[in-house]
Amino acid sequence: MTEEQLKSEILRLKKEKNAIIMAHYYQTKDIQQIADFIGDSLALAQRAKQTEADIIVICGVHFMGETAKIICPDKKVLVPDITAGCSLADSMRAEDLKKWKQEHAGYMVVSYVNTTAAVKALTDICVTSSNARKIIDSLPKEQKILFGPDKNLGSYINSVTGRKMELWNGACHVHERFSVDELIRLRSEYPNAKVLAHPECKAAIIKLADVVGSTQALLEYAKKAKEKEFLVATESGIIFEMERLCPDKHFIPVPPEMSEKYDAEGNLIPCACNECNYMRQNTMQKLYDCLNDEKNEIIVDKYTADKARVCIERMLNLSR
Ligand code: 13P
Ligand code: SF4
Repeated sequence: MTEEQLKSEILRLKKEKNAIIMAHYYQTKDIQQIADFIGDSLALAQRAKQTEADIIVICGVHFMGETAKIICPDKKVLVPDITAGCSLADSMRAEDLKKWKQEHAGYMVVSYVNTTAAVKALTDICVTSSNARKIIDSLPKEQKILFGPDKNLGSYINSVTGRKMELWNGACHVHERFSVDELIRLRSEYPNAKVLAHPECKAAIIKLADVVGSTQALLEYAKKAKEKEFLVATESGIIFEMERLCPDKHFIPVPPEMSEKYDAEGNLIPCACNECNYMRQNTMQKLYDCLNDEKNEIIVDKYTADKARVCIERMLNLSR
């Protein structure tokens, strides 16, 4: 099938099967363009809860599909590539959390949404990068907290709220990789640029940022800002939506530490290679196949889903 045929077949199937296609900002441009809804992980969960579609196709990674399935147990939830994982979610297994909890009696468990359903089932309240600060602020000051799996988001939240949450030692392989030296160099090359960073970035990058926020928050900032140049320290897929919303502005991706592209003079070329290989597993062909065959369905057993739903619903209620 040509690209155009693939596109029209996806649209036909979507209508025929009363499906909704939802995509995260880290998806490729073609998937973002065909989606009915694009959003960050909080927005995807909120939108899934409202849909009247029979089938929800989550163009994102496995935990996003699980979150949608847990809050919409009666819907069929499909992910184009069901093997699309997440290095953060992989860094904390349910048995690890169980042990961590046993070692910390009296602590409350706050988990980033980038976790498996089994980890959520052991969690008191879930957060995303959009609402983590607000939710932590809503908890009693003396409450002792175990926060996982992202140590970078956790230490950022500790720094802005003055908490001393215990942090799990997990990180996102994309956000960990941004080069501090390259960011410093780019800041002198673009002295008027604002630095936008996702809180999954390591502390040295966050320190250099003008704005720290979820993908949605960074987009909102770019839209409203009077500045015309931005250095972007998050997955480069978001630049497609930034450029679409702000055609008169210039977005420069911050390169990763191991970027090995050099120009003729031997200077490192800033490149858009901060891509999440898991997010990029989804393709238009796989989107078509999963809709056509209704395959790659997310299944969460009822016991786990019922337990995991509690911490997600708590988060959604506190995010209103
Ligand atoms: P948000 O969508 O909450 O900004 O998180 C980014 C991310 O890494 C999703 O996996
Ligand atoms: Fe997970 Fe990082 Fe990819 Fe997000 S960007 S899905 S946190 S590996």
